[in-house]
Amino acid sequence: MRPERSVLVGPGDDAGVYLLDNGTALVETVDLITPLVNDPFIFGSISTANSLSDVYAMGGRPLTALAILGFSTCDYDSIVIGNILKGAIDVLDKAGVALMGGHSFEDNELKFGLSVTGTIDKERILRVTGAIPGDLLLLTKPIGIGIITTALKGGRIKDNEIEYAVKWMLTLNDRASEAALSAGASAATDITGFGLLGHASNMVKGSEVDFIIEYDEVPVLENAMDFVSGGIVSKGAYNNLKFVQDKVDFNPSLQEEARLLLSDPQTSGGLLVALPERNIEAFKSKGFKFWVIGRVVEGSGKLIVR
Ligand code: CO
Ligand code: CO
Repeated sequence: MRPERSVLVGPGDDAGVYLLDNGTALVETVDLITPLVNDPFIFGSISTANSLSDVYAMGGRPLTALAILGFSTCDYDSIVIGNILKGAIDVLDKAGVALMGGHSFEDNELKFGLSVTGTIDKERILRVTGAIPGDLLLLTKPIGIGIITTALKGGRIKDNEIEYAVKWMLTLNDRASEAALSAGASAATDITGFGLLGHASNMVKGSEVDFIIEYDEVPVLENAMDFVSGGIVSKGAYNNLKFVQDKVDFNPSLQEEARLLLSDPQTSGGLLVALPERNIEAFKSKGFKFWVIGRVVEGSGKLIVR
């Protein structure tokens, strides 16, 4: 077998999938982030939940991880670094993932993340494309994480006031992934740096479907809209909105603030799942919170936000 024949999913999806000769398929991904909270243990935990997410977004089961850490030896002592790793191991233990090692390097800006490897059923891969007209669109976490962490960095909110946002970032996408698989989802991705609109746009790109997103149904973190109205928006949200603008038909009554909120970059965001309507009860039976934010219709790869 030529090596390239074994690549079932190459670059462009949430993670790559490689088929071994014995029929086992590996799912592989890497991600790293800069600190978005002040507590090193919580930062390590969030980054780990974020790095695991792409495996779950494919419908895979993570097994092993390698840590990547960039830091300036002048600015950070070993206690801080140790606490980042403790936070990571805490989440890996909960996810049943073994830390196999890692690599650190000198960097002016602190960075931490993981490369994660898992296995996946090659017949049940949750690709980013594949949504079918009639599918419902489900979102498993509220958006606004980037706005809340921007507010924290700007001193507009304190560490102890963002616990609700931290709780969502620490929520693994494992159960959402299982629910999507067992309910026969057509497609799924996780909402991260490109925001809800950016990732939704990836799901319709080059396809013959459109997504209709009901703005009022999109769950938003407490206070996030107030911060946007007060001008607390990350640069990433502006960039994301600029990038998707010509692929989205916005309801003209939606203000710039609402459009920026929908473009807010997320860290460890939820899954966006396209699921046949008849299978919604199977998804619900897994017993965790999710929101129906729209549906899939025949179209030409556009997003319609009402
Ligand atoms: Co992803
Ligand atoms: Co990623």
